[in-house]
Amino acid sequence: MKFILVFVCLLGLSLGASLKRTPKPCKSPALMTGAFTFSTQNEAAWLYAGYEYDAFQQRMRIYETGYINNQSVTYDFLLHYAQGVVYQIDSKAKTCTKAPLADKFLPLGVPTNATLTGQVMLGAGGPGEGLLVDTWHGYLEGLEYYVTVTEFGCIPVTELVRTKEFGWVILSYFNNVQGLIDPNALNPPPYCPGQAVKTQGRPMDFFSVVHKMKKHTA
Ligand SMILES: *[C@@H]1O[C@H](CO)[C@@H](O)[C@H](O)[C@H]1NC(C)=O
Ligand SMILES: *[C@@H]1O[C@H](CO)[C@@H](O)[C@H](O)[C@H]1NC(C)=O
Repeated sequence: MKFILVFVCLLGLSLGASLKRTPKPCKSPALMTGAFTFSTQNEAAWLYAGYEYDAFQQRMRIYETGYINNQSVTYDFLLHYAQGVVYQIDSKAKTCTKAPLADKFLPLGVPTNATLTGQVMLGAGGPGEGLLVDTWHGYLEGLEYYVTVTEFGCIPVTELVRTKEFGWVILSYFNNVQGLIDPNALNPPPYCPGQAVKTQGRPMDFFSVVHKMKKHTA
């Protein structure tokens, strides 16, 4: 709810903001490491997760924060879009399952046919301070979305997507850095089923993966 309010404020502010340059749809850096929160319209609980993202090979790892530095976290997913598989990894028990991944890879950033809804300066102080962000609106695969990215660098800030299963879902990105901090995290660990092994279970997509994780950690 808080995120929705913040977002509405952003929209309101943006109406009054003057455009300093004409924003263009953009792609986020192809390699990124960071964290995001995930919440849904109808539930109070939310999730804070770390991620690594590789648009070149269409791979994404999502894990509870703390996983990289301390092995105590065991709830963890690796999404390989090109192969259409999602690995659920328990690094403590060294077990791994392989399920079908149903959705297409959608690169982070702003689709080329999105419409600009506004540009605002976040946390603005004096000249040259604050963060200039652009908010865009559109539809992808039939789903309505708003996406906010930084004007310089096209780093994701917030995504709102209206899903069929969960209503509006809100992703807010934090601590993004360009590049991969642990490139090996995008390969399945050796104890995962190999390429020849068939996937098992129901097909998942990005939102069902994150939602499953959220239920587990809430
Ligand atoms: C990892 O977490 C455990 C407890 O969950 C703790 O005992 C251990 O000291 C931690 N290790 C590091 C390297 O922080
Ligand atoms: C933009 O393109 C996507 C797929 O490429 C499509 O699903 C969507 O309907 C298009 N229109 C808008 C306004 O986003």
